[in-house]
Amino acid sequence: MGIIQYYQTSVGKKAVMAVTGLALGLFLVLHAVGNSFAFAGRRAYLAYASRLHSLGPLLVPVEFVFFLCLALHVVTGILLFIGNRRSRPQGYAVGIMRSEVSLSARLMPYTGAALLFFLVVHVPLFAIGDRPPVAELVRTVLGRPAWAVLHLAGVLAAAVHLWHGGWSLFLSLGLSHPKYDTLVVRSAAVTAAAVGVILGVLPLAALFVQGFLL
Ligand code: HEM
Repeated sequence: MGIIQYYQTSVGKKAVMAVTGLALGLFLVLHAVGNSFAFAGRRAYLAYASRLHSLGPLLVPVEFVFFLCLALHVVTGILLFIGNRRSRPQGYAVGIMRSEVSLSARLMPYTGAALLFFLVVHVPLFAIGDRPPVAELVRTVLGRPAWAVLHLAGVLAAAVHLWHGGWSLFLSLGLSHPKYDTLVVRSAAVTAAAVGVILGVLPLAALFVQGFLL
């Protein structure tokens, strides 16, 4: 079977969602780790940002892969969503994964859409054009209630999306095993919660902690 024919099957589309989702999830975990330097103070945060930017041209292929994965993930997700609405989705989980499947799975298209909307606002605001140093950017942007609330909502959507996506990708790639399913589901929950807490506390700190990142 050729790659195009494979993509046309729902198994092929789920595999594309799993692989691109894994890459995007890794980005998000690294993004949370990088931003956690803000809790160590202005100097540590600026040092992290300058180390990141010192990678210079090396960042270009990484950004290219990120946005390629994002485009594939969104388009394939929409195709699966439309396909699922035409034919009622078949349950495919077993054991602990079956009990986790219902609500978070049904929320995936909506948390995904919310996350996409968030990115359309967040990326131009934080990563494109002439910007002040990253500490000023985060302090002044997230210090405004409207931007802080938008970021809290985006981070919540990202955490819920990462929670379900983090374990369901193992099912989609045929890698689930009753012996490890509980570990996989719990690891996804812990990772998603950690990302949510790190990135969620930042807007709250910018709003409520006097002198944050000064
Ligand atoms: C309050 C939470 C967040 C903060 C404080 C934050 C902070 C930042 C900062 C400072 C940058 C610019 C990095 C630089 O070039 O120096 C950035 C870029 C970016 N952020 Fe966030 N971020 C947050 C949440 C998120 C979430 C939930 C996502 C979802 C995936 C995300 C995705 C991105 C992307 C895709 C870029 C552009 C990367 C690039 O093109 O180099 N961020 N963010």
